[in-house]
Amino acid sequence: METGFSAIDGPNRVVAEYLAELERASLFDERDSTLEILDRLVAHLETQFPQEEAVMREHSYLLLEQHIRSHNSFLRQLKRYQERHQLGENVSRRITYDLKIWLTNHIKLQDGNFSEMVGAKKKRKSGGWWRRLFG
Ligand SMILES: [Fe+2]
Repeated sequence: METGFSAIDGPNRVVAEYLAELERASLFDERDSTLEILDRLVAHLETQFPQEEAVMREHSYLLLEQHIRSHNSFLRQLKRYQERHQLGENVSRRITYDLKIWLTNHIKLQDGNFSEMVGAKKKRKSGGWWRRLFG
């Protein structure tokens, strides 16, 4: 699930670590830990998403606006979970599930689309078979 961009892959690996922490907290029903992990995850994503979007903007990514909407929507969802958890509801399993879906869908497919687009651009710039044959 790597895009080849360290500014995207590094922070995404951190999200995967948060998932492992949340799974552990959820398994042992550690409510305080869940909230603390969730707080750190939200803070991380509030930094990660704008950085990722800046990289995509640099490469004139065509689906940038759609990607930003997806980031914002996920952050809103996590913040709603923070509120519900603070109000006493146990949402740790739900958060863990959503984060797993996010990791497999968003990072693999949407971040992956960006990586493929940049890869295709680089290939076009290098000229393809015509340039290789006739220089
Ligand atoms: Fe993304």
